[in-house]
Amino acid sequence: MLSDPMPARGLLPQSCQLVIFGAPGDLAWRKLLPAVYNLNVDGVLPSHFAVTGFGLPAEGSVSGDPDEHLRNRARTGIQKFSRQPLDEGHWQDFSRALFYVPGSFNDAQAYTQLKAKLDAVDQQFGIPAARVYYLAVPPSLVGMCVAHLRDAGMITSPTERVGFSRVIVEKPIGRDLTSAQEVIRTVAQAFDESQTYRIDHYLGKETVQNLLVLRFANSIFEPLWNNRFIDHVQITVAEEEGLVQYDDQGGINGSRVGYYEGVGALRDMVQNHILQVLCLVAMEPPYSLAPDLVRDAKSGVLTCLRPMTPDNIERHVVRAQYIEGDMHGRRVPGFRKEVRDFFLSANRPLPQASVNSTTETFVAMKLFIDNWRWSGVPFYIRTGKRLPRRASEVAIQFKDVPSVLFNVNPDVPLEPTVLSLRVQPEEGMAMRIASKLPGPKVRIYPVQMEFNYATGLGGVPPEAYERLLLDVMAGDATLFLRKDAVELAWQFVMPILDHWGNSRQRDLPEYQCGTWGPVEANRIIEPDGRYWRTL
Ligand code: BG6
Repeated sequence: MLSDPMPARGLLPQSCQLVIFGAPGDLAWRKLLPAVYNLNVDGVLPSHFAVTGFGLPAEGSVSGDPDEHLRNRARTGIQKFSRQPLDEGHWQDFSRALFYVPGSFNDAQAYTQLKAKLDAVDQQFGIPAARVYYLAVPPSLVGMCVAHLRDAGMITSPTERVGFSRVIVEKPIGRDLTSAQEVIRTVAQAFDESQTYRIDHYLGKETVQNLLVLRFANSIFEPLWNNRFIDHVQITVAEEEGLVQYDDQGGINGSRVGYYEGVGALRDMVQNHILQVLCLVAMEPPYSLAPDLVRDAKSGVLTCLRPMTPDNIERHVVRAQYIEGDMHGRRVPGFRKEVRDFFLSANRPLPQASVNSTTETFVAMKLFIDNWRWSGVPFYIRTGKRLPRRASEVAIQFKDVPSVLFNVNPDVPLEPTVLSLRVQPEEGMAMRIASKLPGPKVRIYPVQMEFNYATGLGGVPPEAYERLLLDVMAGDATLFLRKDAVELAWQFVMPILDHWGNSRQRDLPEYQCGTWGPVEANRIIEPDGRYWRTL
């Protein structure tokens, strides 16, 4: 049951060719190719299907047969990152439908070659000119890629009877509201909104999707899901990894500094993933699962976010950066050293702005949704890198019971009832409820009712990208971001970015690697008589 990641509305994936722009890159290697391999193993790909990669590797060119080059790279990616181990039989089947055109995104000639290859692969596999273009490229290249696709006549109109063209746009969609609108505009010059799938992989995670099922397929939660019964909500996305992976000799084994420096946690995690999760927690029930009704309901939440004023930002938002510290018995460097090491190893001069980088690697904030359901309920969110462990969850804390019967002693209040949804790892959920300890006395103890996907439903759930790729092949946009949602999310974070941009560097608190963030994060929750959950 778990390995059947069919689109929510039961639409079937249609025969097509998946064209990965940026195929030699990290995303394709770690996530996309392993995801397609797993779909192949599970037997859920459309009957006529192939993958063609496009782009140039970091070395600038490919020697030997390009198809074999990509197949070799895909094989190592699958061996390293796939949910299911590489099986020779499935690998043969998968790899014979994997092709590669090494070409530069700004070279019109390369698109002519790509087109010829796609047509030949269509012929070979009986695919009806149906294409899913996955733009796994930096946002600055998106406009160029779609313009070339359009000029090369590689995009069919949405009204075409045979085949289709769909485009998947990866995050980050811009680095502020204006640049996001620019990305949206340039894509719209070539693709209709109905052909555009803006991906946020958090929406493909099982536990995130389960939020809607939990809320709307059970009779007990929805009546309580409002400001009369819920005290507050906490959303945490904690990561252990920093931005550089070092090998045992201190050399650099992989780095995301080039992307992350100057971007920071607010743009990287809050503007997209966390706000999207918040939308699913807080949205009104749509009257059907039609994609636009679900997306209307989500946008409704973003519309009601209380705008951040400078005063709110000072009191309710904390950013910080990690400094050297201990993690699992190992000394790990702070972010500024990682930035220096990255530029040094790339033989690039350290930009002036990065000398004492003020990029935040941690953000916590308190926010409010000003509508009838959530009026007065604080949502506390936090995310950071180099925290003690990888743990993401949504916790709904219910209001205390009245101070009578079992809750009469104000010095020893009962533990609150909490419903926690673990997004990762060990996907599942738990409900903390007060219970009587066995014995003649009435002694109350909080117990956990636990559900774990792996043990409860017999397997590790599919990776987010598996589900989302199938949805695009099926033409189901429910889990993808409509342009208004992207803009509304940027509108919410812009005052914070502007405020930080105007403040001095000394305002940036620090936290040691391996701790749960800066002490300053407590000041947004503890004065309310509440505490960050221990994960
Ligand atoms: C990405 C961010 O979108 O999500 C990364 O750019 C982050 O910085 C990652 O590490 C987290 O995803 P996951 O699925 O590992 O929680």
